[in-house]
Amino acid sequence: MLSTNEYLNILETCKIKGHDDAIIRALRYIDLGYPILLYGPPGNGKTTIAEHILTSLGGGKDTFYEIEGTEGMSEYQIVGGFHPLSMSGSSDLSERFVYKHGTVTRAILDKKNLLIDEFTRAPSSAYSGLFLLLSLGTLPLEYQEMTLTKPDNWVLIATANFGDEGTYRLSNALKRRFVPIDIGYPSSATERSLLATITPDLDERVVAAALKFAEETRAIWKKDRGLPQGLSTDGLIRMARYCELSIAQGSDRVSAFMDAAFHQGTIIADETDPHSLHRVQELVIAIGDQV
Ligand SMILES: Nc1ncnc2c1ncn2[C@@H]1O[C@H](COP(=O)(O)OP(=O)(O)OP(=O)(O)O)[C@@H](O)[C@H]1O
Ligand SMILES: [Mg+2]
Repeated sequence: MLSTNEYLNILETCKIKGHDDAIIRALRYIDLGYPILLYGPPGNGKTTIAEHILTSLGGGKDTFYEIEGTEGMSEYQIVGGFHPLSMSGSSDLSERFVYKHGTVTRAILDKKNLLIDEFTRAPSSAYSGLFLLLSLGTLPLEYQEMTLTKPDNWVLIATANFGDEGTYRLSNALKRRFVPIDIGYPSSATERSLLATITPDLDERVVAAALKFAEETRAIWKKDRGLPQGLSTDGLIRMARYCELSIAQGSDRVSAFMDAAFHQGTIIADETDPHSLHRVQELVIAIGDQV
């Protein structure tokens, strides 16, 4: 069990601010031995939090493996299987390359924890072995006479985005095996203090406008999915840094804000939907008028 000091230390050293409740919840479930899934809109610190937790728990970056889900991923990459060269006509090659462990198998055999980033980008068929391992605690490796056993203290964290389409749902199979933990948008006060550290010289009126822009885009997303996502904290930081640089190079604050907001707005809008682009542009103009 983690001590209170360990909890505090993990929170204090985390670069991602405003998600303390979610991080504590994640640590408790990890403490209880459950795999967790950090999910939420893009650019809100899921990967960074997962890496931070794993680095802190293991005592270094080399204590865990990290992979990213991809569309072409299969059971071979996750659990393992016969190496393609094992079918080679050359007996030399086929003896040398009999099978290959996948990442989950390697992680367990090498005593490493595991982060599967962008979990839902890979098809669920890639994870059938992993799901079995999580349900039963063991997994027979078909390509080798061996059974993989999940160690009690093995930490598995996955991350998943939603919001790209506005309609994404986590599958029930996934929800049953992992404990889903929502990493949403942090409070405006948290983001204000983040910007005070990252862009200390930025005019207060531009900071206020950028925060308002972020808040309004998120409200549009939440209300009727008028935008496929709101501005992420990452997007907000980029916007503030861009404005700071542009003002230092001679732009006035209104055009610096409008320029940055139009650009970030185009990124979060659905570029194939003129209505979505129009909505974000109207928002930029309305807020720009008050800067
Ligand atoms: N709450 C926050 N506090 C501080 N920095 C943040 C916060 N949210 C996002 N960031 C910034 O955004 C960057 C990107 O975060 P990260 O890649 O972890 O997000 P993500 O949710 O995994 O994104 P994606 O969904 O695109 O994979 C971080 O390195 C950090 O600079
Ligand atoms: Mg990520």
